[in-house]
Amino acid sequence: MGRTPVIAGNWKMHKGVAAASELLEKLLAAPHPDGVEVVVCPPFTSLPAAAMVLAGSAVGLGAQNVHWESEGAYTGEVSTAMLRELGVEWAIVGHSERRTLFGESDETAGRRARRAQAEGLTVIFCLGETLVEREAGTTLEVLGRQAAVLEGLDPSRLVVAYEPVWAIGTGVNATAEQAQEAHAFLRRRLGELLGQAPAADVRILYGGSLKPGNADELLAQVDVDGGLIGGASLDVDAFSAIIRAAARRAAEEKK
Ligand code: PGA
Repeated sequence: MGRTPVIAGNWKMHKGVAAASELLEKLLAAPHPDGVEVVVCPPFTSLPAAAMVLAGSAVGLGAQNVHWESEGAYTGEVSTAMLRELGVEWAIVGHSERRTLFGESDETAGRRARRAQAEGLTVIFCLGETLVEREAGTTLEVLGRQAAVLEGLDPSRLVVAYEPVWAIGTGVNATAEQAQEAHAFLRRRLGELLGQAPAADVRILYGGSLKPGNADELLAQVDVDGGLIGGASLDVDAFSAIIRAAARRAAEEKK
């Protein structure tokens, strides 16, 4: 079975209500090719407005994080039920900025992912090595460890995002070969954790300075099934160009 590409925009701490609505109206007005699943992940406060603009459209709505409990004394956190009430269907979990700046661990990322899935969200689970780890030759070891918490998750509600930390927001992207090597490794690892057949259907996205200029090359790799886009997702023209690149790849695969 072919894997429908996913192009997901991670807006990070950008775009309040007014700016989010404006961006999404422009995105919906842009011509949308078939064959690509498009998702946007605005900040929490912009989710209700985003849900209103996106209602009835094919663009999915995601949050940038989600807590592992349904309610309680967890200052600053948001539960799956709260997100679902707004029409959110996706959540990014374990982003490297959460890991490096806010103390997220493999274990807490795993807990978030499990709860989010159990309550009906599709999880975009992020992992990736730092520059120090890559230079030390431990990239695959790190990815293997980070992926371990995916054991037992529902493959049908799981998207994995390989995001080398050194490529995020730096303008320096992984080469197509580096991305393919990591993605192929992750797919083998998912095979061990989830079973071979389900792992073959899990979309593995590349993230880290993915832009219109490098999208074709990265998305052409056999195990690269789309992208998690930060900076370029804030610009409708750039984001649309990446969506079109993913649609070209999907069309070529069908031939
Ligand atoms: P970037 O961010 O595209 O700006 O590098 C990617 C991400 O953090 O998901």
